[in-house]
Amino acid sequence: MTAFTVAIDGPAAAGKGTVSKAVAAHFGFAHLDTGLLYRAVGRKVLDGADPLAAAGALVPADLAGGGLRTPEVAQKASEVAADAGVRRALVAFQRGFARRCGGAVLDGRDIGTVICPDAEVKLFVTASPEVRAARRYRELLEGGHAVTPEEVLADQLARDARDRGRADAPLVQAPDAVRIDTSDMSIDAAVARAVAEIASRRGDG
Ligand code: CDP
Repeated sequence: MTAFTVAIDGPAAAGKGTVSKAVAAHFGFAHLDTGLLYRAVGRKVLDGADPLAAAGALVPADLAGGGLRTPEVAQKASEVAADAGVRRALVAFQRGFARRCGGAVLDGRDIGTVICPDAEVKLFVTASPEVRAARRYRELLEGGHAVTPEEVLADQLARDARDRGRADAPLVQAPDAVRIDTSDMSIDAAVARAVAEIASRRGDG
């Protein structure tokens, strides 16, 4: 078994997570949601920790706990993610995961550009801001969070601007990434598109 890395980047609530999980299951690859690393650091900072110390001491159990999917943690995650020292502390773990035997899917903001510039497949999954905010609003309501559509859109715009505008590893499509705009696509169609892309790069069929 050899390594095979699929890098999936894109803005908040574009469908990266869903597509990543589905393609990982389809090909039997391991999956890492790298947003959880920044969310876990954000959670610790909200609890009073120093960002650099928190990033340096992260353990897998920190990603498994609940409470990382709240709007408050998402905002704090994007704040700590602008810190170059925090990002640096998380690089080795992500690269190690990416090159494990048997294949790996990593989703985030900078996987195809910074973490795995040599990934075998790079996808940029995106959707319009309105569609993304509507999806996130539904998810948060289903998760029992008391939010309004206006708050969700405002939070998302703030986070997008911070993620795109930061000096270190900003959110940007890699020149060699395949763009999948899921605004008018069903989940099944988006997954099928990603699976087809990966299969063709692997030389399947
Ligand atoms: O699920 P959603 O797309 O809303 O967010 P996430 O992927 O969990 O990421 C939360 C925050 O972590 C983002 O807003 C980014 O600021 C940061 N992040 C990052 O900087 N680099 C990554 N590879 C992944 C996430």
